Amino acid sequence: MKIHLQTPEDIRPQIWKELGRASLDRHHEWRTPVLASIDADGLPDARTVVLRQVDVGAGLLTFYTDSRSPKVAQLQAQGAAMLVFWSARLSWQLRVRVTCSVITSGPEVEALWQGVKQSAAAGDYLSPLAPGAVLPHGSRSAGADAAHAPTSTHSFAVLRAQVLQMDWLELSRQGHRRAQLSANTWEWLTP
Ligand SMILES: Cc1cc2nc3c(=O)[nH]c(=O)nc-3n(C[C@H](O)[C@H](O)[C@H](O)COP(=O)(O)O)c2cc1C
Repeated sequence: MKIHLQTPEDIRPQIWKELGRASLDRHHEWRTPVLASIDADGLPDARTVVLRQVDVGAGLLTFYTDSRSPKVAQLQAQGAAMLVFWSARLSWQLRVRVTCSVITSGPEVEALWQGVKQSAAAGDYLSPLAPGAVLPHGSRSAGADAAHAPTSTHSFAVLRAQVLQMDWLELSRQGHRRAQLSANTWEWLTP
């Protein structure tokens, strides 16, 4: 049975609890939000990413990516971005306004890479081809092979999103509810 949370004091920690769970549970629907950014022409771009870590105290969400992927250049030029989460189980949509920073080197990246490089995802960060690089015409499999030929250097990078504001929407037969919240503000909105 769904617990009907009433007050901002109940709902706010529950939102963060669900985010924390999503970073640990591969089956949680909030595990794979959409990250929207702005490209060099000022046009919107968006893609699915995996939520890897949540720091409730600091209001930080962490993702892994390839430092050569277009989103990295976009976020380095314009850190303002948006994450959108939807959970059918909770009937909750969460839109999170964030400022992103990309960490491409240093002890934190290397420490996390030690774990990632043992995993099935390691090849994603060892490809000699950058994500989005055009493959030679008619050589899909050869391209795919080349893409998975390991190189000695990795392109693993950590994407850190500082949460600025959230827009929470709950769909319910008893009446939808929506609120805009930041670290120390809460405003009920018309859904
Ligand atoms: C379920 C799913 C999870 C994904 N997780 C990630 C991820 O954690 N990091 C990432 O960089 N790309 C991830 N991708 C791939 C991106 O959606 C995207 O295709 C790729 O990163 C290139 O994006 P860009 O061209 O905007 O940089 C995922 C795709 C899917 C379908």
